[in-house]
Amino acid sequence: MTLTHPLPAVQQPVAPASPGSPWPASARLARHGELEIGGVGLAEAADRFGTPLYVLDEAEVRARCRAYRAALPHAEVFYAAKAFLSSALAGWVAEEGLGLDVCSEGELRLATAAGFPPERILLHGNAKSPEELRLARRLRVGRIVLDNLAEIPRLASLSTPDAPQRVLVRVVPGVSAGHHEAVRTGVVGQKFGFALEGGPSGRGEPAGAGWQDGAGAPGGEAAEAVRRVLEQPGLVLAGLHCHLGSQIASVDPYLTAVDRLVELLAAIRDRHGVQLPEVDLGGGHGVPYTPGEPGLDLAEFAARVPARLAEQCARRGLDTPRLLVEPGRAVTAPAGVAVYRVLTVKHTVGGHFFAAVDGGMSDNPRPALYDARYSVRLIGRASTAPTRPVDVVGRHCEAGDTLVRGAELPVDLRAGDLLAVPTAGAYQLSMASCYNLVGRPALVAVRDGRARLLIRRETVEDFRLREIDG
Ligand code: LLP
Repeated sequence: MTLTHPLPAVQQPVAPASPGSPWPASARLARHGELEIGGVGLAEAADRFGTPLYVLDEAEVRARCRAYRAALPHAEVFYAAKAFLSSALAGWVAEEGLGLDVCSEGELRLATAAGFPPERILLHGNAKSPEELRLARRLRVGRIVLDNLAEIPRLASLSTPDAPQRVLVRVVPGVSAGHHEAVRTGVVGQKFGFALEGGPSGRGEPAGAGWQDGAGAPGGEAAEAVRRVLEQPGLVLAGLHCHLGSQIASVDPYLTAVDRLVELLAAIRDRHGVQLPEVDLGGGHGVPYTPGEPGLDLAEFAARVPARLAEQCARRGLDTPRLLVEPGRAVTAPAGVAVYRVLTVKHTVGGHFFAAVDGGMSDNPRPALYDARYSVRLIGRASTAPTRPVDVVGRHCEAGDTLVRGAELPVDLRAGDLLAVPTAGAYQLSMASCYNLVGRPALVAVRDGRARLLIRRETVEDFRLREIDG
């Protein structure tokens, strides 16, 4: 039997399962510094499957899906597959009753091959190819989110009144939110969606020009897209969509987005005499990456956002549309832990300590791309040594290949030690590269004390297999 007790304060002051903890709720510190997730020791898993190793806690993913459904019983929840997708995960999400947001042929094919019901799939993309649209139609995906004027006739030509396609129009609500400029999609000047300003052709006409009578009605590019969709007999306009950004910790930006979308819904009703039945607020729900960092409070979101939608609609005499949300990170990030082996510890002039591990920017490009912050702890042996700041760096040939800057790690850290990085279940493996031909890591699912290899480690043979002439 394994003895369990809370993580000691020496390395990490916040215990798992406490609010603001980046660790999965199942995290337990066992004997000899072993850290268990889902009842599986991470050091033991590292020995068995090798490192770097990604570990995904199935119960945590399922619990998070259930929490969304329980908090938002009248909403439709779509897991955003871009955060991470595998066949097993698609199965868990389907079983827990969520829909799936996909944004490529690859995600669509993988999900449907895994048996995900196409009618519960929503397709996104600012540049959907003709093949993707054809595939989506052939598979009968439930909804397609329109992002540019050109795809309206393109999709309409693939749809007929007796087999119509349900669509949403992606609106840019003019709300700035998200952890980094690269992920802020709620404002004009970025590539996604239709602005509430601009003219009928979307080429810079003054605000309101999308409306025949002008009169200060909101609409702009978005109103013009709506008008064109409504002209297409093969398309059913289900509603409006927006996605503000990612890693958002406050509910307020969503409330502003609701206000702006409802204003447009009312204008559409006035202009076209139709009430759209759905409003999709996208994803972006933030999670703590470091102890105590705020995430989005799901209970607060659930208490305030549907109420604001109902209130704003009532004010304008509209029926309240169904709410759709698309969380990605909040479902999988906290369920994942990355395990690395320290290859070398270096003390350089200027008093810098580096711990170089066997992964890096190829399995986690987020610190390099967004200056993302992470927690990290020594696992697999107990250390009572005091800590000092160490930069945990990767093995790639770039000085910017840093995983965790200034991590507090024991002074006796040495080559061969194992380090665990929590909040690793989203936008890491899904954004992994084959830089330096370091193969992408293996992924294991843990549940009830058992580890199951979901994705094997990539090897040089995988690269060679793709070569035709060599
Ligand atoms: N819906 C749409 C239309 C999206 O574009 C996204 C994310 C989501 C939902 C899910 O957002 P989430 O709930 O996971 O924040 N690579 C960046 C994040 C990019 C997010 C892209 N879109 C990162 O690692 O922070």
